[in-house]
Amino acid sequence: MAKTKTQYVCQACGHIEVKWMGRCPGCGEWNTLVEEVSTPVDSRRTGHSGVRSEPLPIHQIPAQSETRIHTGIEECDYVLGGGVVPGSLVLIGGDPGIGKSTLLLQLSQAIASQNRRVLYISGEESASQIRLRAERLGTVHNNLYVMAETDLDLAVESAASVEPDFLIVDSIQTVFRPSLTSAPGSVAQVRECTSVLLRFAKSRNIATFIVGHVTKDGALAGPRMLEHMVDAVLYFEGERHHMYRVLRAVKNRFGSTNELAVFEMGDEGLREVSNPSLLFLSERQLVVPGSAVVAAMEGRRPLLLEVQALVAPTSFGTPRRTTTGADYQRVNMILAVLERRLGLQVGASDAYVNVAGGVRVDEPAVDLGIAMALVSSHRDRPLARGDMFVGEVGLTGEVRAVTRLSERLREAKKLGFARCFVPAAQTVAETIAGLEVVSVQSVQDAIQKAF
Ligand code: TYD
Ligand code: MG
Repeated sequence: MAKTKTQYVCQACGHIEVKWMGRCPGCGEWNTLVEEVSTPVDSRRTGHSGVRSEPLPIHQIPAQSETRIHTGIEECDYVLGGGVVPGSLVLIGGDPGIGKSTLLLQLSQAIASQNRRVLYISGEESASQIRLRAERLGTVHNNLYVMAETDLDLAVESAASVEPDFLIVDSIQTVFRPSLTSAPGSVAQVRECTSVLLRFAKSRNIATFIVGHVTKDGALAGPRMLEHMVDAVLYFEGERHHMYRVLRAVKNRFGSTNELAVFEMGDEGLREVSNPSLLFLSERQLVVPGSAVVAAMEGRRPLLLEVQALVAPTSFGTPRRTTTGADYQRVNMILAVLERRLGLQVGASDAYVNVAGGVRVDEPAVDLGIAMALVSSHRDRPLARGDMFVGEVGLTGEVRAVTRLSERLREAKKLGFARCFVPAAQTVAETIAGLEVVSVQSVQDAIQKAF
């Protein structure tokens, strides 16, 4: 095979070298040279879809009404903003073993059963392994094609002959282009393979999903650069030892971001959870110190969660602060506010904060709930079972307004809560029958009214 020429391009200054070097001679930065295919100028003269385009007055551009593919898995459609858009390139990121392949295989089966053709290219498992898994997950359909291949050029060739409506590449770190000498999974390969798939998806109008494994520090391996190449980025997350999995859109050109769907991993694959709040509160022990319920907005959807806190005297040395699911910095800030503004002696105590169910929230609206859980644990007195807390806590201990208050309150009512603590600065637009709304100025105020 004729070898395509490659070159090494500095990612900081654009300097080009024919050989890899540790330090860029152009700008002096270390470790910035990345291998790229040196594309002849001609083939660059096309748009990102691979078709040459002309500038047109906007009213002459045909307004294609979006025809989305409804996957049959409603929660996936919801996160994608109403279904899969043909020709879009979607990245699904997540820790290894979290269930990305399972989700995509189920999605493939759902789409295949609607008389659409699906091609699943796997660089990680053999075709027969995939077949076995597919059988376990449901019915195997004729429209679902499976191929075990790591050479992307061969994979794309096959995809061109199968002409699927839906293409999956699992994972972007295992496929490679033979024209690059870099190893699969390297920045050069990951980027090159993604741009090949991008052109392929756009020029043939094939909805393409690629799987990307995430490294320990949370970045997509083969850095975040993938995120701006694709149309949508979904993260599949959850604690491996919990059965809940959360699918979250962090970027979406065809819908809103931060939408979230909850799945449950079982023996027969992933099952949609239609009422996540109920699930997350189901293990809650009703009257124990250190537990508070908060309402977090996830996209357009309110989610009720239990925040647990444990404040205990430090046995030796500096106090430990640990958070799971909550933002570490905010918890520290809230502890400082409790200490300085309310005189709560927590400075010499260990503090643990945990959002039950393995969900992660970083919205400031859960601050008041975190503060109340900490106070409840510190005093060793439980909060009332029907109480819920909404509000951001400021540095002076004041409770500040949050967005979309009435949606949070409606969710609380739906799940049978009797009393909601809300920021005094905010007027509640509607009264919800059977739900008592308590306005609080500050954390101090909330403590007085709650205990
Ligand atoms: P997988 O989809 O292979 O993860 P990823 O592609 O993100 O690496 O999921 C692997 C895990 O899911 C594995 O530990 C087993 C579990 N699992 C179930 O519990 N039930 C099932 O039906 C399936 C298919 C997998
Ligand atoms: Mg996998």
